[in-house]
Amino acid sequence: MLMKLATDFMGWIDKRLPVTDAWNKHLAQYPAPKNFNFWYFFGSLAMLVLVNQIVTGIWLTMNYEPSGAGAFASVEYIMRDVDFGWLLRYMHSTGASAFFVVVYMHMMRGLMYGSYQKPRELLWIFGMLIFLVLMAEAFMGYLLPWGNMSYWGAQVIISLFGAVPIIGDDLTLWIRGDYVISGATLNRFFALHVIAMPLVLVVLVFLHILALHEVGSNNPEGVDIKKPKGSVKPEELSKFTFHKQYSDKYDIVDAVPFHPYYSVKDIMGVAGFLFLFCWVMFFAPEGGGYFMEAPNFTPANGLKTPEHIAPVWYFGPFYTILRVVPDKLLGAVAMFGAIVMLFALPWFDRGVVKSVRYRSKLHLVNLIQFAICFVVLGALGTMPATPTANLIGVIASFGYFGFFIALWFYSKNENTKPVPERIAD
Ligand code: HEM
Repeated sequence: MLMKLATDFMGWIDKRLPVTDAWNKHLAQYPAPKNFNFWYFFGSLAMLVLVNQIVTGIWLTMNYEPSGAGAFASVEYIMRDVDFGWLLRYMHSTGASAFFVVVYMHMMRGLMYGSYQKPRELLWIFGMLIFLVLMAEAFMGYLLPWGNMSYWGAQVIISLFGAVPIIGDDLTLWIRGDYVISGATLNRFFALHVIAMPLVLVVLVFLHILALHEVGSNNPEGVDIKKPKGSVKPEELSKFTFHKQYSDKYDIVDAVPFHPYYSVKDIMGVAGFLFLFCWVMFFAPEGGGYFMEAPNFTPANGLKTPEHIAPVWYFGPFYTILRVVPDKLLGAVAMFGAIVMLFALPWFDRGVVKSVRYRSKLHLVNLIQFAICFVVLGALGTMPATPTANLIGVIASFGYFGFFIALWFYSKNENTKPVPERIAD
């Protein structure tokens, strides 16, 4: 009786909004390659962290005061007087760092398995837009506690826009809304941080997933699970039922339905992630001064510059690239250039073999040196700019840009290994 009622109700809904069809298309009957590994946890983890940020952000906003006079004190109030306010704040601040850890791992996976290559270029572009908006979101959020590092960090980054020829000064004034960083800046950053950027992020993530499901998931072997219709013997087809959107167009091999196979597997990833996340949140929420920096425990003070202004760790790689170039404008160009290179990655790579497993030794070496340079640049970004650090920064910057340039040259006629037709058991 109850079952029939539920079925009738779902039938009524489905006639008006295709909920069951969307569930089947994107989860229950979405063909996912059977060989997803550790690196494929990070997409669902990024979604989890996004939800965490939005939910804890809403609750923080209930007690936060977006004004130059009240912001710092309201954060102290949240930490000391609001019930579980400390937990909300630490979930949000640890979540910010966790977001970047997860997203960097997610991007690294894309690099390793060539997930940005044709036909996934647009999916990659949506990912890069997410990354860009995420950086803006984190940057604006960092001003809100109105600590001294919030203030001076924003001061350094906003003043970069002053390097733009002709309109530079007007541009910085327009961004700040004042001649110095002030309550006016805080207010607009608050508005962008709590509503504009999250909205854009959610829309972009939605498009990211739609684009993924249009072309299908890649996998560690870089072998396509969608074969031309009629090209596969019936006994070799995947035994599962997939949504007609996929099975009408292609012969699907070596795939399993996303739900329950990967919905359950992803829960394992979530458990492991939450274990680490909670450890940091409960035992080291300041992340050794990397997640929450010491000067931010004192209120913003325009007359007292912190001894060593450093961005939060996740901006480190791009900040170092900015800093090692002596000229301010060229430094800013190099920094934005580093991000543009990532956007253009699908076109730098002219190869057809996707996974690093079947690409040349040269590609493997290039990828490893890129990852090392990225980590080195990140570490340097949090350290004072000594001459030695600068020299290492220059070398690592060459490594960073060199990755893309070299890739463009060797990928055309690369010495690749034969790629199997099918994903092995
Ligand atoms: C809020 C941030 C993000 C969320 C929630 C997100 C979510 C997802 C999810 C759920 C998947 C499918 C599962 C998986 O393959 O892991 C995916 C795939 C993918 N994402 Fe993201 N993503 C985010 C950011 C990014 C960024 C910054 C990039 C790169 C610039 C990116 C590039 C990709 C690519 C290339 C795939 C396909 C991977 C494959 O099939 O091998 N994503 N993403």
